[in-house]
Amino acid sequence: MNIAVAQSGGPTCAINASLVGVFKEALKVAEIDAIFGSINGIEGIIENHLVDLKSTILTNNDMELLRQTPSTVLGSCRYKLPDWSEDEEVYKRMLETLKQRNIGAFLYIGGNDSMDTVNKLSAYFAKNDIDIKVIGIPKTIDNDLCITDHTPGFGSAAKYVATTMHEITRDSIVYSIPSVTIVEIMGRHAGWLTASSAVLHAMGESAPHLVYVPEVPFSLENFLKDVRQEMSKHKAVIIAVSEGIEVPEGVQSGVVDNFGHKYLSGIGKYLEDVVRSEIGCKVRSIELNVMQRCSSHLGSKTDIDEAEAVGAAGVRCALEGETGKVMVFRRIEDIPYTVVIEAADAGDIANNEKFLPKKYINSAGNNIRKFALNYFLPLIQGDLNLITENGIPKHFTLHESVLK
Ligand code: F6P
Repeated sequence: MNIAVAQSGGPTCAINASLVGVFKEALKVAEIDAIFGSINGIEGIIENHLVDLKSTILTNNDMELLRQTPSTVLGSCRYKLPDWSEDEEVYKRMLETLKQRNIGAFLYIGGNDSMDTVNKLSAYFAKNDIDIKVIGIPKTIDNDLCITDHTPGFGSAAKYVATTMHEITRDSIVYSIPSVTIVEIMGRHAGWLTASSAVLHAMGESAPHLVYVPEVPFSLENFLKDVRQEMSKHKAVIIAVSEGIEVPEGVQSGVVDNFGHKYLSGIGKYLEDVVRSEIGCKVRSIELNVMQRCSSHLGSKTDIDEAEAVGAAGVRCALEGETGKVMVFRRIEDIPYTVVIEAADAGDIANNEKFLPKKYINSAGNNIRKFALNYFLPLIQGDLNLITENGIPKHFTLHESVLK
């Protein structure tokens, strides 16, 4: 039989490592013939737009390059699969592609929206007695997938956020005048990535002095009180703020994706203006924006290795005859850090969100408790031994004409 793999949702530094995991594991299996990569996630299956990965990823060096290449080499999508009761046509088209290419297993690397696709597609095949296995491989910098301890991509993003916050701290304290620096961090409705900036406390830094996550209702009045209080203690106040905290109408564009998720961006700038007009000190906002999810030069080796391992585990899971499953991590210990990979039902993960536990947040709702750092620290360990060209990390890419 042949297998197919696709990548979906927002980019991370680890999605291509999961692709390598799938590819390498499939190469070991005699009964797997061709390994197809679907272009732009599930859209490639619908439109029969696949590439033969064996003639694309040719050498060990290609695989090494892929491991250090951020984003999704096969392209991505934010495609919401309709229920088959509402629109069976699209399922028939996918089936046609999979049958025509003799694909017996489909591995989908993605976040909670993509696990909705795994859930629906596997249920459709089961209902119609079609023997095609569908397995989910988790990824998202938001770290908001249920059941799994964490998601590939998160560790590298957290390492970037903490490192950048550290560097911003050094830059912010050089002048004698008081200042406020607001750093806006991604994560949609969950504060995991914003909270990860607090790992600086484990290095004796007082920054970030304030951390605002979506799990705590945001009050502008309390924010200004907090900033004034921190300014009485520190010359340069550094603030981590999640893109997902509640903001007044009009601060964000209001544009939504196919899943109805709002494009979030702008809270840092908004708070900068508030501090300028209400406090009147030197103030700057920094939006980490897409850099936090594609800065593979700061990738976490733990994250990339785990992403590869979970991809390989997905292939084994399909070969064992499972379907409608998502590979997940179960943490055994923080120190020494130990995890095992297991399979969970896609139905328990699809469309759900896992939030930052309340116990990780201090009683004032404006910072992260020290014990919570044990959760984050193991995930950001280790560096990639990067292959470079002209002094910058090399990437593995498909020819532009292959991607839409
Ligand atoms: O995939 C998650 C995420 O990176 C969020 O953190 C962010 O809010 C969103 O994607 C951005 O969406 P897009 O990739 O469509 O710009």
